[in-house]
Amino acid sequence: MIEFHNVHKAYRVEGREIPALQPTDLAIQSGEVFGLIGHSGAGKSTLLRLINRLEEPSGGRIVIDGEDITALDSEGLRRFRQRVGMIFQHFNLLSSKTVADNVALPLKLAGELSRSEIDRRVAELLARVGLSDHARKYPAQLSGGQKQRVGIARALATQPKILLCDEATSALDPQTTASVLQLLAEINRELKLTIVLITHEMDVIRRVCDRVAVMDGGVIVEQGAVADVFLHPRHATTQRFVLEDEQVDEGEQRDDFAHVAGRILRLTFRGEATYSPLLGTVARQTGVDYSILAGRIDRIKDTPYGQLTLALTGGDIDAALVCFREADVHLEILR
Ligand SMILES: Nc1ncnc2c1ncn2[C@@H]1O[C@H](COP(=O)(O)OP(=O)(O)OP(=O)(O)O)[C@@H](O)[C@H]1O
Ligand SMILES: [Mg+2]
Repeated sequence: MIEFHNVHKAYRVEGREIPALQPTDLAIQSGEVFGLIGHSGAGKSTLLRLINRLEEPSGGRIVIDGEDITALDSEGLRRFRQRVGMIFQHFNLLSSKTVADNVALPLKLAGELSRSEIDRRVAELLARVGLSDHARKYPAQLSGGQKQRVGIARALATQPKILLCDEATSALDPQTTASVLQLLAEINRELKLTIVLITHEMDVIRRVCDRVAVMDGGVIVEQGAVADVFLHPRHATTQRFVLEDEQVDEGEQRDDFAHVAGRILRLTFRGEATYSPLLGTVARQTGVDYSILAGRIDRIKDTPYGQLTLALTGGDIDAALVCFREADVHLEILR
């Protein structure tokens, strides 16, 4: 659905070039939820805004749904933008217009539907985002979560194939974030919309994304399926995001369990294996004792996973390692 071929971007400020995106190749599949994560200034918004040409690339080719959009003239670009919706951190609603009029605006600008068709479509959109009872209100009379729902309804008005979300939940509390993410997941599933979303929270990636790219200094430093990147982060930036999400502070991380006896290993379970009674079975068969040093059981989108750091003492430790290797679990020996 979205292809970048050697796309790069530098901003010109007072005669100086500020590189924001280094030459990048990227492919985002139709119907997936693709996350972009990175620290401030990493180039996430630049990359996102290149997708609908809100930013002009300094070089390279961008192909959306088979069409080279770097070559479009202004009329072509206007039509193309109807196929790409966008939502923002601060909602960008018009305060002088009602909820219904905000949602109707892109339809009026497109000029393709009659008044009554627009009314019908707006009613459908407000029902989809759960705001049917708020059509006549003004943005100032809504909560943050409700404002973002208006933003989503407006972004969907022209029936786009792609939805771009720039920090769409960053201004919301955790509970409202969860409900907005749930709405985005529903839209992705039911409308088969391709979603690209920016966040600086690994938790947002974990809840809704299929794949993720981690950005640092204008470069995608790591990308892949969320479970792979999340459970086995390779780049230092990714590792830091994962630790933040687990709320492990760096001091704790540096602690190499010097005071703990025995072999130290980390087991990662995915899917149904998460609920298997592996530890008890291995302990009984090999006579090892285990203590749990750190652990987490959670979900990545719809898949349960568990990750446990264990110290093994006593019994036949080598036999225990063989059992873990043979089981449906990923084993890393830390010490
Ligand atoms: N319009 C602009 N003019 C000049 N420089 C810009 C412009 N927009 C972004 N930049 C610079 O480009 C780099 C990447 O910025 P970008 O906004 O893409 O980062 P980001 O990852 O979205 O950051 P944040 O998380 O803070 O939103 C930064 O160094 C930024 O200062
Ligand atoms: Mg940004």
